[in-house]
Amino acid sequence: MKLKSKILIIAGSDSSGGAGIQADIKTVTALGGYAMTAITAVTVQNTRGVDSVIPIKPKDIRNQILFTCKDIRPNAIKIGMLHSSQVIETVSNALKKVKSSKIVLDPVMVAKGGARLIDKSAIKTLKDKLIKKAYLITPNIPEAEVLTKTKIKTTEDMVYAANVLLKFGVKNVLLKGGHRQSKYMKDIFLNRRELKIFKNKKINTTNTHGTGCTLSSAIATFLSCGKPLKKSCELGIKYVNQAIGSNPNYGKGNGPINHLNSIIINKKFK
Ligand SMILES: Nc1ncnc2c1ncn2[C@@H]1O[C@H](COP(=O)(O)OP(=O)(O)OP(=O)(O)O)[C@@H](O)[C@H]1O
Ligand SMILES: [Mg+2]
Repeated sequence: MKLKSKILIIAGSDSSGGAGIQADIKTVTALGGYAMTAITAVTVQNTRGVDSVIPIKPKDIRNQILFTCKDIRPNAIKIGMLHSSQVIETVSNALKKVKSSKIVLDPVMVAKGGARLIDKSAIKTLKDKLIKKAYLITPNIPEAEVLTKTKIKTTEDMVYAANVLLKFGVKNVLLKGGHRQSKYMKDIFLNRRELKIFKNKKINTTNTHGTGCTLSSAIATFLSCGKPLKKSCELGIKYVNQAIGSNPNYGKGNGPINHLNSIIINKKFK
């Protein structure tokens, strides 16, 4: 099988393998792309929670990005967990050199189990320095609430918050609805010309560890090989939905999803 495109992932490691860099690499690979990484932090976690976060020094994050990209140029970039203002500024400056028009920013703030993954001052830096540079941002509901200082209960609240996010200077927003208690999951796609609501039946499971990381990496992969943005979001949501539906039920907490759902294993390797 020929690789479709190259994606640089800037994010944190999840030792349990379900979210973070591990989910990102699995997603990009399962969808036919070539994954490169700049690791921002090492988290010690399992499906029940985060034990600790070991930050990587900003200069080492910058070096991973620049040294890797001067050799292999990525077709798209996915950004996940950036835990401090200094890291956000470093990444923002490094991206001035890499110059990609296809940046998907997942503004990760809290892990599924509730652990905070970013400090408070970093939220302001995220708004001032990085959000404007992204082609798409993919906040979940709690992240959109923090960024827009609004409360989100209904679909209308989601659309309102997505509009506030556009005013920060980002071109496109996909506000994910995974945290709402309802029969249907609604993800809101919005830019200055278009509003599209992606609707799927909620799958009744607690095995949703890493759905957000997976979705943003899937969208970055589809974008990287030339698919239009709205189509990339639609396909990314479909991939995550099938990955949740076929989850392996591992661990005693919020278990991982099945990143391999897109692959038919070749007979030679069975
Ligand atoms: N139980 C579910 N059934 C179907 N789709 C779901 C379910 N939970 C989440 N999703 C979908 O998964 C995608 C990711 O949304 P979610 O709000 O869970 O992201 P997140 O909170 O950032 O996840 P993460 O735990 O990785 O940070 C969205 O497309 C959402 O609609
Ligand atoms: Mg998330």
